[in-house]
Formats: sequence, C-alpha cells, structure tokens
Amino acid sequence: MSEPSPPRGLWASRTGFVLAAAGSAVGLGNVWRFPYITGENGGGLFVLIYLACILLIGLPVMIAEIMIGRAAQRSTVSAFKNLAGPRTPWRALGGLGVVVAFLILSFYSVVAGWTIHYTLLSLRGLLGGRTPEEIQALFGGLYTSVPLNLVWTLAFLALTMAVVGRGVRNGLERWSRIMMPGLLVLLLVLLARATTMDGFGPAFGFVFGLHADSLTGGGVIEAMGHSFFTLSLGMGGLLTYGSYLRRDADVPLMSVGIAGLDTLIALLACLVIFPITFSYGIEPAEGAGLIFTSVPIAFAQMPAGGVLATIFFALMVVAALTSSISMLEVATAYFIDEKGWSRSRATWISGLTISALAIPSALSGATDLFGPRFASLAGRSWFELVADLASNWSLPIGGMGMALFVAWRLPAALRREQFASGSRFARGYAGWLIALRYVVPLAMLAVFGRAVGVF
Ligand code: TRP
Repeated sequence: MSEPSPPRGLWASRTGFVLAAAGSAVGLGNVWRFPYITGENGGGLFVLIYLACILLIGLPVMIAEIMIGRAAQRSTVSAFKNLAGPRTPWRALGGLGVVVAFLILSFYSVVAGWTIHYTLLSLRGLLGGRTPEEIQALFGGLYTSVPLNLVWTLAFLALTMAVVGRGVRNGLERWSRIMMPGLLVLLLVLLARATTMDGFGPAFGFVFGLHADSLTGGGVIEAMGHSFFTLSLGMGGLLTYGSYLRRDADVPLMSVGIAGLDTLIALLACLVIFPITFSYGIEPAEGAGLIFTSVPIAFAQMPAGGVLATIFFALMVVAALTSSISMLEVATAYFIDEKGWSRSRATWISGLTISALAIPSALSGATDLFGPRFASLAGRSWFELVADLASNWSLPIGGMGMALFVAWRLPAALRREQFASGSRFARGYAGWLIALRYVVPLAMLAVFGRAVGVF
C-alpha cells in the first residue's frame, strides 16, 4: 500500500482512537433509542437477539470496517479504490455510506436538539417539583412545537459543524475524553436509585426475562439494524476513523473494548428507565419520548435532582455530539479525499445540506400546524421513515458489503496481517473469517427474508 499523498491528521495517541470510536458508538442510540425500541418490542427476547447480533455480526463487521480504513489510510470511497482499483464496483459501498450519513444525521440532530432543550429546562429548574403527568405533558409540548424543534435541531448541527471543521486532533479527540466516564458514573447513580423503586423487579424481568409474546419479524430486523446503528457500523464512520489510525494498533482488541462498553451503557440505560416506567405506570412502548418522560420523574424525586438532571442531559448532548461528528466526518472526509475540497468547505457544504434535510424531520411532530399528513409518507412521519430506512436497511446492507469485501476481495496475506500482527487476538483469525464469510451474510439474509415475508 502506498502512503497517502496529503498528510493525514493522525490520532495524537492510541487511546485517542479508542475514545473517539467509543464516543461515536455511545450516543443517543444507547440511551434514547435502545430503551424505546426495547419497550416497543416487549423486552426479553428482543434484548437477547440484539445481544446475539452484537456478538456474531456487529463485532466481526466492526473489525472488518476499521481494518479497511486502516489498510487504505483513506476515507470511505477512496479506501475501496485504493485497495481494489480505481473502477472497482465496491466503491459504491462508500457512496452509499455518504448518503446514509446525511440521512441519519438529519433525524439524529432532532433528538439531539431535544436533549439541548431538556438541559436548559433543568438548568432553569423547570423540571423539578413537577408531577409525572406534568413531565409527560412537557414532552408532548416539545414534540409538537415548530420553533423549538427548528431552533435546537439547527443549533445542534451548527455545533457539529464547528467541531468537525477544526479537524481530527483538536476537534474530535478532545471531546471524547470527559464524556464517557461522566455518563457512566451518572447512569450508576441513577441505577442505585432505580434499585430502590417498586418497579425494579418487574423492570428487570421485562428486560432479561425470556418472554416472546410481542416480538415480530419487524422486531427481529430492528434488533439487527440497531446493532449496526449503536456500534456506528455500515456507513464508513469507523472506516474513516480507522484511516487515521497507526499501523501498530490492535484492532480486534480495540473493537472488543468499544463493543463491550457500548453494550454496557445500553443495558444500564434500560435498567435505569424501565424501573421508572413500571413504578409510575408509564407505557414501556410509549415510543420516542420514553427517556424524556421517565428520567426527569426520577430526578424530580432525588436530593440534588435538579443539578443531576442538568448534568445528565448535558452529558447526553455531548454523547450525541461525539456521535454526530463521526457522521459528518464521513461526508467531510469524502469531499476532502475525493474532490480535493478544503476541510472547512467540505464541512460547511455537507453540514448545510444536512440542515436542509433535517427540517422535515424536525417538523414531523407538528401536526397541529400542518395537519397529520404533513411530511408523512405511507402513513408514517418523515422522521420514522428515514430512521427505518437508514438504520434497519441501509446500515446492515453496507455492513454486509464491507464484510464480504474483507472476506472475499482483500488479498489473504494483507487481511491476515491486518488482523493478526501484534494482536492479542491473533488466534481468533480463523473464527473471525468464518463469521465474515458465512455467519454474517446468512444471518442477514435470514433476517431480511423474514422481514419481507419470504419465510
Ligand atoms: N452509534 C451512534 C449512537 O448509538 C450513532 C452513530 C454515530 C452512527 N455514527 C454512526 C450510526 C455511524 C450509524 C453509523 O448514537
């Protein structure tokens, strides 16, 4: 492999990559999306299928994706060209990733905007001293508000652009250092509180008990799609981060660490949220507002709850930011590497395009103003449609493509060297290759087949 022509911003330290990749993985997917789709799919079996997807599909694909970036030292489209020739059809995988980055960020920033709003509400003491009913009504008011959704969505995107515009070292790496330990500690504080609630027993049974009652074929595909979403796989985010990685890094070891931490935080979030919903009679399947209606109830009844709530939502904003920058970085790095644009031009043009796409998502709840069918297709809001298409379909397809690329197209010697040299997991090579060659594609065909009703 030739060395890259433009000098690439390498991570300042090895932990820099791990922190940034973990920062990308840990985000709204863990604390907002996972608990709410677990609630909608009845817990239990859904959680088990999700865990199996992380281990058998997500982890092998993560190693493959980071490896493509590191081997090529290029961002997504250029990486495939560099490894497989300028006209290779595999470069379509990179192109798909850039498009999906735009789509995911367009709805992700709406939810991130809600976390900004809640940070400010709790900072001003407006969440304290409220009844559970009032807290639920508060979310309804936000969800349907046009100005609040527009302002916070666009503010969050502007923040993302500001960080990405500053580049790898100053922008991406610094933010990730403080956030993860902070989020973990606060979740543990909330967990301690949750264990004393009446609802803890039923909640534990709901999350870990093996009851299959409400799981559908759509639920299975959602579990798989979410395992890609939560690990930031399938659109070239970790590929791009991997391209800034030094050659001596132990990719399998790092991947195990990132996936483990990500899963831990997602499960913790469930063990914090469901005891609240069960104690206060909130519907577990209540949908996208779940975390915003349950967590403030717990804080409202804790000593120093106002301060803790402010810190909690502020950490969610940062967690969302370390994820959103990894999405915008995919698009930015593509325009830098492929079109030769400057970093700031690439950042602003992609960021402004995403802002335009985010507007229909931001207004998806504003049915009063526009009528229930505004921005709605096939009976679903634009927000739901984009989220479903991007995470349940595009990410798994992109991830499978990368698995197949590494398993069948990459020269065997290069693949082995990239996996094994200096890795503590060198002996896992054969098992990993089997997972990529057979387990990943077959499992995914089964899930997709089930979802479209082939069997
Ligand atoms: N993993 C992040 C989360 O759980 C979201 C995310 C960041 C992402 N980068 C991504 C999802 C790339 C898919 C692809 O919140």
